[in-house]
Order: sequence, then C-alpha cells, then structure tokens
Amino acid sequence: MLAADLVPLFQRELELCRVASGQNVLIFTDPQFPYPEYAQAAFAACRALGANPYLMVGTSWGKLADRLVHASWCSADLILGMSTVPRGIGSWMYTEVHTAALHAGARALMIQEPLPALVRMMPNEEVRRRGLAGAALLQAAREIRLISADGTELSLRKDGRKAMYQCGIADEPGRWDHWPSGLVTCAPLEWSAEGTFVVKPGDVLLGLWRHAQTEVRLIFEGGKLRRIEGGADALALRSYLERAGDEGAFRVAHVGWGTDPRADWSQVGMDSESKYGTVLLALGRNTFDAPAAYCGMGGQNASEAHCDICCRNVSLDLDGQPIIRAEQFLVPELA
Ligand SMILES: [Fe+2]
Repeated sequence: MLAADLVPLFQRELELCRVASGQNVLIFTDPQFPYPEYAQAAFAACRALGANPYLMVGTSWGKLADRLVHASWCSADLILGMSTVPRGIGSWMYTEVHTAALHAGARALMIQEPLPALVRMMPNEEVRRRGLAGAALLQAAREIRLISADGTELSLRKDGRKAMYQCGIADEPGRWDHWPSGLVTCAPLEWSAEGTFVVKPGDVLLGLWRHAQTEVRLIFEGGKLRRIEGGADALALRSYLERAGDEGAFRVAHVGWGTDPRADWSQVGMDSESKYGTVLLALGRNTFDAPAAYCGMGGQNASEAHCDICCRNVSLDLDGQPIIRAEQFLVPELA
C-alpha cells in the first residue's frame, strides 16, 4: 500500500524538478540504503511523467570513481541519489563524479531522509525565495561573525567564495539540491576561522547523529580547530574527526543558516540543518562545486570527514551587519 502514498509524492517532487517527457533520469542507490521503496516510487513517477528512468545499484562501499559511473552520471538529465555511499564524507555529493556530472549539464537531487521528513518539508516557494535572497546576501559578504550568550565568538573570512542555498528543488542544469532541505551556506576560507564556537546541550552533532548532551567548546586558531573541550560529547566528536586521519577534519567545511519553519528540532537530520533561524557550522570536506547560480561552494578542503553542527540561538553578522538575532532574521527579505 505504500506505493499509493509514495508515487504521487515523488511525482509532485519530480514535477517541481521539471522532469518532462523524454528526459533521462538516473536513479542511483546501494543495497544498504534503508528506503528501497524510494527507487521504485521514483521509477514509477518518472514513467507517469513520460521520462525515461534508469536504476543503478552500486556496492555499499563503492567510491563512485570508475568509468561506468562517470559515463552514466554525465549523460543523465537528472540524477536521483538515494544512497549514503561513499560513507564518511557527507555521501556522494562531495565526489568528483558528482561535480563532473553537474558541469556536463546534469542536475541532481539527493533523497535519503525518512518519509515523514519528505512530507513535512515538501519544497515550497517561500523556502525557495528565502534561500535565494539569503544566498545573494551571503555571496556578497566577506566576513562572517558568530556570537552567542553561551560564549561563541567566531569570525571567518569568505572573500571571493560563492554562496549556495538549498530548497529541495533541482530544476536547472548544473544544480544539486536535497529533498528535503531549507538552508543557506558557504565555504569560508580554510585558514580563516578564529575564535570559539560553543555547542550546547540540545544542539545537534550531525556527524554523531544525535543531540549533544553536554557542552562542547571548539577553539579555532588560524583556521584550525586546536582544542575540543568538554565531556562525553567532546570526546566523541574528537574521536570521529581523528578517525578521518587527515588535517582537514579539523577545519571548517561550511557555515550558514536554516530557512524552513516547518523543520522539527526533535528529529536529527535535514530538520536540524534546515530549522529557521538556526546556525550551522560544519567541519571537514567541502570540495563541491556546481555551475548553476547559488549552488556549490568551491571549497579546498578534501578531508575524509564531514560533520554538520546545528545550533540554536546563535547570532550571525555579515560584514558587521546584524543578520540573525534570537533565531529571527533582521533583514526583511530573509524573514
Ligand atoms: Fe554539511
């Protein structure tokens, strides 16, 4: 019976992504993907729209680095990625083949959250508009400053780096997006983070896939995370980052904010990254670029780690202008 709910839902999403008659849609998944019904629903939805669906199932430990993957991804109109492969680097979005496919004219949509999240944050125009306005503002900025009553005081430079937004819609060539999501982010210069970032109990350590139970203090000098202070969560985070075995795990990947008021903070996942007015600081890999406007980050950090940290009640300034206070946007077009 699940198909009765899923197929119309996927059809609506693919219509938003402008899937049309004759387009080639490549569905990519792996045997350990926890929602195998998504590929079937996407396949049926493509057929209902007159598109040509193809299904590629790789191994659950693949690197997506061979010629077959490259040729097929670069030849697709739309890639629907339903996989957490390769594990450890924020999945396939940070792979070279993904960037190559986007530059070859494909668009790509990630779908790997539980069904209630897909429904809860079905893309809408409000989240798209807020994301686009935020990305334009962030792209033009040069300095990001984060402040909180709990002791966060962190500055980062992003001179020349682009900014991106996610709204759950991949509707133009060269654009990647993730259904569901609502956020604005960018990759600051890797040497630039300076100061302290405080993670409070109840904030989300997405790399550990849980809410923090204890305070964690991250101290940056010259872009490098020099100290991780705190109790059990600090130990776990340090262990996660050390496991990558590279220096980039201790540098910032991306910084930004959530744009979707429908996100549920009790749910760990894209709800955490998307919650309206919250601030996101990620560590590790950020080598993702895309030719579409306000998509991709152009980062230089090729770490094997990627950990998003999503926090409540953090203030954010761009070039000295207050943008977020108490999870509210002070710039009218971002609200
Ligand atoms: Fe991230």
